[in-house]
Amino acid sequence: MSNADAAAIGALDFLRDEWLAFGNRLAEFVATSEKEERAALLPLMSASLMLSMNSADGQADAERLLARAQALSKNGADANDRERAWFATTAAWVAGDTDRCLAIHEQMAAEWPRDLLAIKLGQLHAFNRGDAEALLRIGARAAAANPENRFVHAMHAFGLEECNRIDEAEALGRKALAIDRRDPWAHHVVAHCLETRGRMVDGVAFLQSMSDTWENCNSFMYTHNWWHLALFLIDLDRTDEALALFDKRVWGVWKEFSEDQINAISLLARLELRGVDVGNRWADIATYLKPRLHEHFSPFLDLQYLYGLARAGEQSAVTEMLASLEDRAERAKPFEREAWSDCAVPAAHGLAAHAKGDHASAARLLGQAMPHLQPIGGSIAQRALFGAIHLDAMMRADWNDAALKIVQADDRERPTVPATKRALAGLYRKLGRSEQAMAADYQAEQLARQYRGLTL
Ligand SMILES: [Fe+2]
Repeated sequence: MSNADAAAIGALDFLRDEWLAFGNRLAEFVATSEKEERAALLPLMSASLMLSMNSADGQADAERLLARAQALSKNGADANDRERAWFATTAAWVAGDTDRCLAIHEQMAAEWPRDLLAIKLGQLHAFNRGDAEALLRIGARAAAANPENRFVHAMHAFGLEECNRIDEAEALGRKALAIDRRDPWAHHVVAHCLETRGRMVDGVAFLQSMSDTWENCNSFMYTHNWWHLALFLIDLDRTDEALALFDKRVWGVWKEFSEDQINAISLLARLELRGVDVGNRWADIATYLKPRLHEHFSPFLDLQYLYGLARAGEQSAVTEMLASLEDRAERAKPFEREAWSDCAVPAAHGLAAHAKGDHASAARLLGQAMPHLQPIGGSIAQRALFGAIHLDAMMRADWNDAALKIVQADDRERPTVPATKRALAGLYRKLGRSEQAMAADYQAEQLARQYRGLTL
């Protein structure tokens, strides 16, 4: 670190530990970096933190902090090679050139694999692009160079999980927890693995047994791990308990924060898809979404904001955001064209149609978007929301053959979910296959009875 005294190095170590542990004391680092007079890396790292907020205020703060860092380093004259890489990636992020950020972080992971903040942010950029292979490559580089660091196992494991190497990911997540059970990212990886395998009972037990360690987590990690627990409950037919988690854990920690908002939107939407009346909860979320119509930090966020507004009946906001999304897609750089033009625009119209009950349009438009879903970013489990809405639209629009193929595939992958069996039964019945319908209904009831009897 250039121009760094012991206090500046201590501040950066604090940031690394806090960021990797998803702690709630990151603002303390920002305050320290604002006062720093010499070491450019401090305001530079604060700029990255601000950009990770996905907000207009965060963007403005990041620009200011980047300029301050540049002044402290005398426009790079006082910076070493690694710091120059940090300057380059932060400037690219401020400019929205996130493909360049990812390329720089891949280089940094090769050259300085023990810079764990560079690893963490590299994985964030890979995640935001839906680039599972890059997520894994960066995680694997870190794992090879930091065998003693307990947080690195979970970072590597998440890459494995998003590349569908589920057994390896779960084993590595559990290995991290054997070293220290207070690792929310390792809890999160194991939750993803159990979800993929349809192991909901194990998932609830596991997350509940770890939840005492989440009290000092930042609001993203806290609400997101509870969101995962709620997903298990939904698939166990225990939607009342999932809705209670929405009220108690998922919505209300930091209502202004993008990550809290999408956890809330995605949970309410999934509850509604299972027939739950969520009352006036959309209206409260929509209050916090209305300032976001023209932000466009990512298609993955935008689509969820839009659906939240649409479910709240905020028609004029939806119309305005749809127009703004189309403008954003027109301005897309080549690397992001698929995400914005091929996915976000038709998907947004499809989601708006679904919220209005125009299911044939929703099925058609979401169908156009689905082959281009991965580049919008997010995890497999998060993107599954769009597939679930698409499937719902197809079933309601009586696209029975196409819907049946999807539900059969879901059931093959996760044969433990009563709602999937019931969907199968409904489709078989519509197609005149009454014996298969009765068999699927019977299986659904057997599973549901088993889950109703459990004390969770
Ligand atoms: Fe997740």
